[in-house]
Amino acid sequence: MECRKLIDKLNREKHLDFPEWVALWSNYSDDDRLYAGELARSIALKHYGKNVYIRGIVEFSNRCGNDCFYCGIRRSNDKVQRYTLSDDVILDCCETGYQNGIRTFVLQSGEAVELDLEHLCDLVRSIKSRFDDCAVTLSLGELSFDEYASLRQAGADRYLLRHETADKVHYGKMHPKSMSLENRMECLRNLKKLGFQTGCGIMTGSPFQSAETLAQDMLFMESLQPEMMGIGPFIPHKDTPFAKFSAGTLESTLMAVSLCRIMLEKALLPSTTALGALQSNGRELGILAGANVIMPNLTPPDAQDNYILYENKKRADVPVLQAVADLQSRLDVIGYTFYTGRGDFGA
Ligand code: 5AD
Repeated sequence: MECRKLIDKLNREKHLDFPEWVALWSNYSDDDRLYAGELARSIALKHYGKNVYIRGIVEFSNRCGNDCFYCGIRRSNDKVQRYTLSDDVILDCCETGYQNGIRTFVLQSGEAVELDLEHLCDLVRSIKSRFDDCAVTLSLGELSFDEYASLRQAGADRYLLRHETADKVHYGKMHPKSMSLENRMECLRNLKKLGFQTGCGIMTGSPFQSAETLAQDMLFMESLQPEMMGIGPFIPHKDTPFAKFSAGTLESTLMAVSLCRIMLEKALLPSTTALGALQSNGRELGILAGANVIMPNLTPPDAQDNYILYENKKRADVPVLQAVADLQSRLDVIGYTFYTGRGDFGA
């Protein structure tokens, strides 16, 4: 079947079979991508209008026990200066975000470190009580069911945990043996069970990715029905084993965003920072291809310098007020505007 027909079928049935996904991923042309982009944009418009949801991310710790082959803050990169922000600094970051209209705070850190669960729960409770009209999203990696349950009980609303790839062999080529795809998927299912708005996701153009692994990703996302999907290009980092691989392309990232929007119409889909790192107007193009979320960085600049996951992840060197204003004027150009509510799934 030609690609356009496959895109139409996906739109009608919200499902393609494995061989159809493989055919689509291996054969689409620029025209097909633009076709998918238009369709995805009209679906996003239908559900969200020209509103872009805004989340403030606080990269509160770069300590990491994992050694993912692609990531700049992997455990064995000893050029990174490790930090953990104090609760006071984290709350200040949220305050600055709040004053700039942000009503979702995303707390992100490295993964697989000894964590003080009670302390984290207290932090979530403090944020939720101080900013009672805000949502808290966590992105801390793989934890046990009970740990997730405590965080949920403390008031966390959403959780981001990219699955990275749904193909077991591919997963094994991007991660050390100590990590397993089964556990990551189990975590995602647990998060859903606990009522978190849950986000999975992938890097487009990651080393060893293929039409087949992308087909697996689409089928996994169809079965998980995540509320959010984080899709950004892989970008090499010089101090990782994947330093010599080339970056994912803008085009394939936009295609992936569009197909996710067509398959899971109401999903919250960020136009990622990595997309903006590939090309200066990358995030606007992401919105036009069906994304509906942008995540300005609230992390203090000196900490951001040590949270470099990939090359060219520049620190935001302007104050949050100006960063938000700059983003708004970029959105003005394409006729979109920041939506300053919590921006929950399906709301
Ligand atoms: N390029 C792009 N994205 C990356 N991430 C980690 N390293 C890189 C890289 N080199 C992404 C992973 C992770 C998220 C927090 O950042 O997908 O889940």
